[in-house]
Amino acid sequence: MARLVSAKSGTDDGALDTNLRPRYIADFIGQGKVKENLKIAIAAAQKRGEVLDHVLLYGPPGLGKTTLAYVIAVEMGVNIKISSGPAIERPGDIAAILTGLQRGDVFFIDEIHRLSRVVEEILYPAMEDYAIDLILGKGPGARSLRLNLPRFTLIGATTRYALMSSPLRDRFGAVYRLDFYDEQAIKAILKRSAGILGVEVDDGGISQIACRARGTPRVANRLLKRVRDYAQVVADGKITEMVATDALSKLEVDGIGLDEVDHKVLRTIIEKFDCGPVGLETIAASISEEADTIMDVYEPYLLQLGFLERTPRGRAATRLACEHLGVPYRKGKSAQASLW
Ligand SMILES: Nc1ncnc2c1ncn2[C@@H]1O[C@H](COP(=O)(O)OP(=O)(O)O)[C@@H](O)[C@H]1O
Ligand SMILES: [Mg+2]
Repeated sequence: MARLVSAKSGTDDGALDTNLRPRYIADFIGQGKVKENLKIAIAAAQKRGEVLDHVLLYGPPGLGKTTLAYVIAVEMGVNIKISSGPAIERPGDIAAILTGLQRGDVFFIDEIHRLSRVVEEILYPAMEDYAIDLILGKGPGARSLRLNLPRFTLIGATTRYALMSSPLRDRFGAVYRLDFYDEQAIKAILKRSAGILGVEVDDGGISQIACRARGTPRVANRLLKRVRDYAQVVADGKITEMVATDALSKLEVDGIGLDEVDHKVLRTIIEKFDCGPVGLETIAASISEEADTIMDVYEPYLLQLGFLERTPRGRAATRLACEHLGVPYRKGKSAQASLW
């Protein structure tokens, strides 16, 4: 079974993702501050007949970064070209994309923190001066040729703002951070998605799904889809509170949307390391997960819940986490004992 809580849109999302993706700012639910700022930036650029400034979107997976990039292109009435940090391997790759852009186009680079240094360096003059420097020939006879580009909008998305180099960050005119959605926004997203999928769901059903969605639209939509399948097979297709509760109890998520990996992370810190602090690499090794996955996918929501704390010496589990798991909170028991 595909994980409900994963970073990427999975294979089972496919058509679901495109159907459920809001096309215009008006359908994009939540993220009020980001939307307000974007609306003004878009309206201003259009009023002046200018190209929109480069935009950087960052935040945990599944919160709508890719969706917003498409929304921006639609609202600006321009084409969008899509690529990603790891896909652009050589300078020639990025030069080819950049020289193929038309004035005003959006060029979207997902996982922009994973661009290589050499590729990044081509991007600097492209973003700043709308030009690239091509090197012709090799060795002492090599010449550099400046090629002008049409004005374009670069939209970068990242889950790891801290990993981006500062020269790259500094070249974005606007930087927006997406936060986890509150329960009301998640409910609105679920209602909208249910409408598009043509599935009947009552308020109780919506609430049951919403409280397990980790404030994340992608997870909300995945849960809705699973519950819909269950409702169609086991009930008469309608998602009531009872149908939702039954369906959700069969998935490996708890009442607040934490899955097996979240539980393992917390239990490891609490039981093996006396609530921490303990380094992320150590946690990752003891549960056989990638440190990057924990950091990108799991940790942000645990931090948001107040279950996890980041300290200079590593991650610590909180009293709240212990209460949720129903285990006693005994912080640094062995660490204190060893002082004696
Ligand atoms: N504000 C929103 N309103 C409604 N649906 C949303 C919203 N943001 C994201 N979604 C849904 O969640 C899914 C994941 O969003 P996506 O843009 O791919 O996230 P990210 O790129 O940040 O990982 C999309 O397919 C879309 O259906
Ligand atoms: Mg994305």
